[in-house]
Amino acid sequence: MCGIFGYTGNNKNAALKTLYGLKDLEYRGYDSWGIAVKETGELFVKKAVGKISEVPERLFSSVLGNTAIGHSRWATHGGVTKKNAHPHFNYDKTITVVHNGIIENADILRRRLSQKKRDLFISETDTEVIPHLVDYYMKRGKSLEDAFILTCREIKGRFAFVLMHRDSDFLLAARHGSPLIVGKGDGEYFIASDIPAFLQYTKKVNYLDDGEYVKISREKADFYSFDSRKKIKKKDIIINLDKEAASKGEWDHFMLKEIVEQKDSLARAINQDDAAIEKIAREIKKARGVFLSGCGTAGKMCMAAEYFFSVVAERHTNFAPASEFPIYHHFLKPESLLIAVSQSGETADVLEAMKVAKRKKSKVLSLVNVSGSSVARASDYSLLINAGPEKAVASTKAATSQLALLLLIAFAVAGKLKEGKELLIGLVGKINDHLNPKYLEYIKKVATIIFHEHDVYIIGKSANYPIALEAAIKIQEVSYIHAEGFAGGELKHGPIALIKKNTPCVALIANDETKDDMLSNVAELKARGAYIVGIASENNTLFNKWIFVPDVGVASPIANLIPIQILAYYLAVLRGNNPDMPRNLAKSVTVK
Ligand code: F6R
Repeated sequence: MCGIFGYTGNNKNAALKTLYGLKDLEYRGYDSWGIAVKETGELFVKKAVGKISEVPERLFSSVLGNTAIGHSRWATHGGVTKKNAHPHFNYDKTITVVHNGIIENADILRRRLSQKKRDLFISETDTEVIPHLVDYYMKRGKSLEDAFILTCREIKGRFAFVLMHRDSDFLLAARHGSPLIVGKGDGEYFIASDIPAFLQYTKKVNYLDDGEYVKISREKADFYSFDSRKKIKKKDIIINLDKEAASKGEWDHFMLKEIVEQKDSLARAINQDDAAIEKIAREIKKARGVFLSGCGTAGKMCMAAEYFFSVVAERHTNFAPASEFPIYHHFLKPESLLIAVSQSGETADVLEAMKVAKRKKSKVLSLVNVSGSSVARASDYSLLINAGPEKAVASTKAATSQLALLLLIAFAVAGKLKEGKELLIGLVGKINDHLNPKYLEYIKKVATIIFHEHDVYIIGKSANYPIALEAAIKIQEVSYIHAEGFAGGELKHGPIALIKKNTPCVALIANDETKDDMLSNVAELKARGAYIVGIASENNTLFNKWIFVPDVGVASPIANLIPIQILAYYLAVLRGNNPDMPRNLAKSVTVK
């Protein structure tokens, strides 16, 4: 949520580097943007409402300066206006700040700071308190760094921010709850919310932890605790990622690129060290009370895993969306286990759920896609799903990788890891065979039939029920069509009243003991006039359109999810939406 970027170095094109960096961070927020550059003795600032990807280079090609900061916004406090776009300033416009997160005591600080000067604040943002508070302390004789530290201690909430002063050659940045990573180049330093923003310049990084700040000059980056002021030694980490993987390449959208990449991402997800999987399986077997938690799509994958653990390993687990998880704290004990699942590893609700579990001394394991993320670092043990960078807001390849890994763990709990691996390797082979341009084209044709509809319903049973819920999320978020997922057997208890002639209904069918029940549910829909899209390994006369999926046994939720993602993608495109940047959403939800 919000992308922040900072640069200081020998290169005079700090502004352009910041622009490029922000373009790579656009998935984090895209309602407005801003860049501030330190030119000789002056701060050059440009900000606007709109997408950073649409900002032409020429706006910054003649702006020269060695230090710059920038921001791509997802609005929290205050509407989408130029005034609310970052960077924000103190009154004299000497201090400038970009920020990601929410400052919870902003209102109190605002009131206090504007006591003597009523028109001190010009925006509605919480961020603006930061430069004013730093300024407040500087006006009372503190050095910039001391004022910055006092500010870090005083603001409450989750934040990551970068500060640049007109008269200083260094950047200061602090983290408490929102991600910040320093990139070490040759005679230049970067700081950003995510690594792809500077990946073209360096792979050498340092992560900031909560409660830390960094002072960055062209020559070095020094890390400190802002509570104790103690210097912190950091080991350089070399990132195993290439720019290519994080770029759109020739694809129209990241979402389609990432859907098609599932052939490879699934293979990587299951290509795990057996010892790591067995270790998690042991923890599950040992635990008294296993909880699975995540948000949105990751949550739905946890819910599907609840079925996997039941069907494959006869093991009871409990799923709760991370935002609801704290309510169950009564059930947590030191012997309990929480498995937290998150693509970004930065989702605030997931971090909060983990905190609750830790408070009860329960063990916390996690599956994440972003190495070094907050969730990974706060876990007792963390496994990477290895999906590669996921840039589209709608989660696709990360979701199937999470599912594959959770299924593999269920097999390991059942003492059948080898069998699980073979099943999943078979699945990858089958997906490789059919996930081709012809398949995409066919699903696009199905989308063409239903893209003008107002409602779409999706049904599934057993582990395909959470996939129906996930299908609804996918369709809602990118196409803005009203979509709802149901357990097939639940329709007759109410929702079937919604079905009219030609209402599109998608049935997710597995070739197992649930198939007959599902076909009965499809028949009930069809009898009320529904237009049936069957996702199944075999055609059926009940289907108006059949989308083929391979028969992969208990792994069917993975196979069934892929055509739904493709359908959602084309529904969005046919309705003229940009599926990579759905309205009101951002990739990584770092606020509660
Ligand atoms: C929907 C989607 C979201 C995320 C959710 C959790 O397509 O992507 O529902 O799944 O915000 O995000 P992570 O997995 O980063 O914790």
